[in-house]
Amino acid sequence: MKIHKVVDDIYRLSTNIEDNKYLFEGIWPIPHGISINGYLIKGEKNVIIDLTQDIFDFPKEITQQMEGVELGIEDIDIIVMNHMEPDHSGWLKAFCAQNSKAMIYCTKKAIPLLQAFASVPAERAIAITDGMVLEIGDYELQFFDTPNIHWPETMMTYERKRGILFSCDAFGSYGSIDEHAIFDDQISEEKHQFFENEALRYYANIVSTFSPFVLKGLEKLQGLDIKVICPSHGIIWRNNPSVIIEHYKRYASYSKGPAEREVTIVWSSMYGNTKQVLNMVVEVLRKRKIPVHIFQVPGDEIGYILASAWKSAGLIFGMPTYEYKMFPPMAHTIEELMVKKVSKKKVFRFGSYGWVGGAQKDFETKTEKSGWDILGHYEWQGAPTEEDQQAIKTAVEGYCDALIEFTEK
Ligand code: FEO
Repeated sequence: MKIHKVVDDIYRLSTNIEDNKYLFEGIWPIPHGISINGYLIKGEKNVIIDLTQDIFDFPKEITQQMEGVELGIEDIDIIVMNHMEPDHSGWLKAFCAQNSKAMIYCTKKAIPLLQAFASVPAERAIAITDGMVLEIGDYELQFFDTPNIHWPETMMTYERKRGILFSCDAFGSYGSIDEHAIFDDQISEEKHQFFENEALRYYANIVSTFSPFVLKGLEKLQGLDIKVICPSHGIIWRNNPSVIIEHYKRYASYSKGPAEREVTIVWSSMYGNTKQVLNMVVEVLRKRKIPVHIFQVPGDEIGYILASAWKSAGLIFGMPTYEYKMFPPMAHTIEELMVKKVSKKKVFRFGSYGWVGGAQKDFETKTEKSGWDILGHYEWQGAPTEEDQQAIKTAVEGYCDALIEFTEK
């Protein structure tokens, strides 16, 4: 990829992870890749904002991009580290070994991480204060403490004269970037939809746990005249940055409920007895015109389940009892939903058992602090009878009424 001008002497440096076996953060599948963006300001002093991960040939690729504007590593005077997660800081150790003069602007909380991740001593760091401005020739960089978007040490950098926000993880998305279409006004409607889906999945996988901090961060940014958003993952928003801001507001607001009038069904079945009920449940929901997203575990990826569950106001789990507890892959799914703080949902559960139940008790114990409103459940022994099917149908009808009321805007 080549270097791209954002505006004036501000440039984007970017690489795509395109190995479809690669798991982002070691967990999340990225079948459509992800971009890692840094930014370069060429001026009286040369500034680099966020680096890249030290994988594949990324440092070499970025170095070549910098050469496109006749700058080398040793020409950089200032490094701004908005975030110390190694997808942005992995190159820092090697970078600083080659450049001994550049000072690093970061938050106070980032300083121990400079040492821990990159063996960079605290003496190389300048801790920013919230709102502090650094004037460099024609550029005015203002730093904002934005903790937990996405780690505690995170900050954002705002170029005041041009209204450019370097937001790092915030406003980011999965998805590789085509080098001919890096701005929001260069992509088709279809591609916008793709990035919206990938932004939601990225949010649910990476940021959702910290939604209260996202809301605080958004509040802090409210007074800024943001003309361009340059995130560290995803496209640059120069035509209409409010689109991605509104998406993020909406994603964060789902943590307080209600989310969208949709239902995510996650189901498991050992011998088909729990599965027998699934189609009927789906049919009831569809008759009520409630969009349904269906996932089976094991099989479907947790990253996709999280995104769907985050966006849905309703969750339905179909799972049998397994050794007095929840079916293990479902237990793992529930645990992930708890970690990501998927909250304020209307919930129903159904499932079969053999000799004795236990899944329901396990389910209720493990979701005790979830903030879920468990509207009902239905269990049966062995295969579902006609009476069982009828009882579940009635229960799901009641569930739909409650969900519709809950999501009435
Ligand atoms: Fe893109 Fe939290 O790192």
